[in-house]
Amino acid sequence: MSRIIITIDGWSSCGKSTLAKQLAKELGYTYIDSGAMYRAITLYFLRNHIDWTEDKEVITALENILLEFKANHKNGQSEMYLNGENVEYVIRDLVVAEKVSDVAAIKVVRDFAVAQQQLMGEKKGIVMDGRDIGTVVFPAAALKIFMTADNAVRVERRFKELYEKNPNITIEEVKANLEMRDYIDSHREVSPLRKAADAIELDNTHLTMKEQLELAMQWAQQKL
Ligand code: DC
Repeated sequence: MSRIIITIDGWSSCGKSTLAKQLAKELGYTYIDSGAMYRAITLYFLRNHIDWTEDKEVITALENILLEFKANHKNGQSEMYLNGENVEYVIRDLVVAEKVSDVAAIKVVRDFAVAQQQLMGEKKGIVMDGRDIGTVVFPAAALKIFMTADNAVRVERRFKELYEKNPNITIEEVKANLEMRDYIDSHREVSPLRKAADAIELDNTHLTMKEQLELAMQWAQQKL
C-alpha cells in the first residue's frame, strides 16, 4: 500500500498529538511532534541564557543544538533528545511553555526546525503535528487535518495534564498561557498558524478519542 504524509495543525491543546499518535499507530507510520523541537530549542536558550532578540546569538546557539527523536522501547513512543539528553518530560513544563511561542516566532529558528522536519518526511509514512505543517512544511501532503475545540475544553484538558506533574498550578495560569500562545502563534509574521485551504477541519469538542480516530482513519483510507 502507498504511504502518505498526514499533517495535523491547530490550536494549542486541542488533542493534536493524541490523534497523531493514534493515527500513526493504526497505520504503522512514524509520529513526529514538531512542537517538541521548538520546546527543546527554547529549553536550550533558557538554560544557556541566550538573548533571542539578537539574531547573531541565536544563530551561534543553533549551531550547538542537536535534536533527535529516539524510540522509547518501553512505551513505544518517540521522545525528544537535546544534545543527547532525554528532555521529553522537562520540555512540557510551564516555564518552557511560557517562552516557546516567542522562540518559535524567530525566522532562523523556524528555518532550522523546518529543514529537519522536511528531511523526516522524505520517505513519507509519517504523521506530523504542529502549527505550519500543512501550510509550510508539507504543503503537498495527501491528508491535512486542522483541529479545533472549544476554549474551555482545551483549558480543562491542559490543566489536567499539567496538574498531574505540578499540583500547585492554577487553571487561570493555564488559561492565560493557552490564550497567549494561540495569539502569538496565529499573529506572528513567519508561518502563522492558519488552516491550509485544502485541510479538513476537525472540531473535537464533543467527540470521544475513539470517534475522532474513526473519522480521521476514514479520511486516511480515502487518500490511500
Ligand atoms: O504543539 P506544542 O504546544 O507542543 O507547541 C509548542 C509551541 O511551539 C507552540 O506554542 C507553537 C510552536 N510551534 C510552532 O510554531 N510550529 C510548529 N510546527 C509546532 C509548534
